[in-house]
Amino acid sequence: MRSLIDIQELAPGEIDALIASAEDIIADPAKYSQRCRGKRLATLFYEPSTRTRLSFEAAMLDLGGSVIGFSEAASSSASKGESVADTARTVGCLADIIAMRHPKEGAPLVAAMNAGVPVINAGDGGHNHPTQTLADLLTIKREKGRLSGLTVGCCGDLKFGRTVHSLLAAMSRYEDVRFVLISPEELRIPESVRSMLDARNASYRETDSLEEAMPGLDVLYMTRVQRERFISDADYARLKDTYILTPEKLESAKKDLAVLHPLPRVNEISPAVDADPRACYFKQVRNGKFVRMALILKLLEA
Ligand code: NCD
Repeated sequence: MRSLIDIQELAPGEIDALIASAEDIIADPAKYSQRCRGKRLATLFYEPSTRTRLSFEAAMLDLGGSVIGFSEAASSSASKGESVADTARTVGCLADIIAMRHPKEGAPLVAAMNAGVPVINAGDGGHNHPTQTLADLLTIKREKGRLSGLTVGCCGDLKFGRTVHSLLAAMSRYEDVRFVLISPEELRIPESVRSMLDARNASYRETDSLEEAMPGLDVLYMTRVQRERFISDADYARLKDTYILTPEKLESAKKDLAVLHPLPRVNEISPAVDADPRACYFKQVRNGKFVRMALILKLLEA
């Protein structure tokens, strides 16, 4: 029984195999439409979500399986004081695989230790979000044709943004990848992520200027300032609109730049950018479902 809590649990070869599997599903979805017949996914979401939960559910339904779950802690027994361990053990009696999102870092790991069925981390606090990273990697692979030899800009809330932490952990294992970390001073990457990059001798530099970074980038990964992780409303209000990507700012970018965003966006990408062929964030949503199908298959067939 294998779970996915942190993207680094997957060897680079396994990530490449998941991407290849997702591409095969995209090419011939009918071939997969009954592969999870009789299997049930439980989505346990203790934090708001649109894409991730619906993407997991759509993925399981497109594999011919079924879905149960809850979308807020208030409607689960957590509101009566049940522990994550007990909830996981209970749901493990009722479902074959679990996707869990939780505001506490480490909660999905506790669930994995108790559920008796595979648990997928669908985002834990400001920590990790491995399936968003799989969606990001599949998108980069499809847009750029490769995951190595790229300059990747990550812009916005690099401190609390769990999708950035998982993306850096995954992409720093590919050859000749250079990161440009674009954020205000207060929202730079946390020490744990810095130590991971340093231990790998990853190539990265930090700047607070999106304009300065733009011309050198092959991929621009925009993120939302994570309001729910801020202690002070005043700090959030001061930092939230630091970066707003507009068509004018894209004028200095490469013609084949890929602009990604895990979504939801607030103000950090102007809707006027959506019509630019370099905007890939809705393709990313589509890719997310296919790579979750590949992951569910891998974990259930293990
Ligand atoms: C992200 C998340 O939940 O971390 N959303 C998502 O799953 N696509 C990003 C965010 O909320 O900013």
